[in-house]
Amino acid sequence: MDKGVVVLGAGGHAKVCVELLLSMGREVAYCIGNDASDVSTCAGIPIIIGDEQLVQLRDQGYEEVFIAIGSNALRMRLAAKATGLGYRLVNAISPRAEISRSAKLGNGIAVMAGAVINAEAVIEDLAIINTGATIDHDCRIGQAVHIAPQSALAGNVSVGAGSFLGIGSKVIPEVSIGGGVTVGAGGVVISDIPARSTAVGVPAKVIKTV
Ligand SMILES: CC(C)(COP(=O)(O)OP(=O)(O)OC[C@H]1O[C@@H](n2cnc3c(N)ncnc32)[C@H](O)[C@@H]1OP(=O)(O)O)[C@@H](O)C(=O)NCCC(=O)NCCS
Repeated sequence: MDKGVVVLGAGGHAKVCVELLLSMGREVAYCIGNDASDVSTCAGIPIIIGDEQLVQLRDQGYEEVFIAIGSNALRMRLAAKATGLGYRLVNAISPRAEISRSAKLGNGIAVMAGAVINAEAVIEDLAIINTGATIDHDCRIGQAVHIAPQSALAGNVSVGAGSFLGIGSKVIPEVSIGGGVTVGAGGVVISDIPARSTAVGVPAKVIKTV
């Protein structure tokens, strides 16, 4: 019997992900939040508090989890914890996203409404392809990357694990963006960006590297 998906997270991003799962016809059992507040539901789903709930729900027979946490690093950590407990990571994909039949998707991915993923693009585990973002042919989107709403990646762009491309950013073809990079909102990336850098502006310039 389908006991439903456990959603880890209970904030704004989780709300969107719950609605994606429901629009796919999935049952969502609980959202797990991390602090008690006045809010007891997330998109109509009961919130229970504390990551330790994952263990209890696993013991009750829940097997599927979606990590609905915006922070890329935290999403990766919590996914490792959940899979270590034996959960499977499910995808939350809007019926109103366009995904090429030749694109390859990993697990634990969110693809919001209006997103487009074109031919032979590869989207690794835990990535977020947010509302209206477009990922063109042959792009490689690494683990736990977040491509924010209305961003557009031309063909053959690669983005390393844990990177965040801010709202409305654009990337020209063939560019390679390292892991752990932040591209500021509206940035236009026209050349490679080294790992762990923040780049902003048009064209995007690196303002810091850690
Ligand atoms: C880039 C960003 C992450 C800020 O990084 P930060 O390390 O905190 O940088 P600061 O705010 O200290 O800004 C540093 C400099 O970059 C500039 N800057 C920041 N964001 C910028 C942007 N998007 N475009 C152009 N310049 C920007 C600031 O004006 C500042 O310039 P100054 O040093 O000349 O004053 C943030 O501004 C941003 O763009 N976030 C995107 C958020 C988003 O898209 N969220 C979507 C959620 S779905």
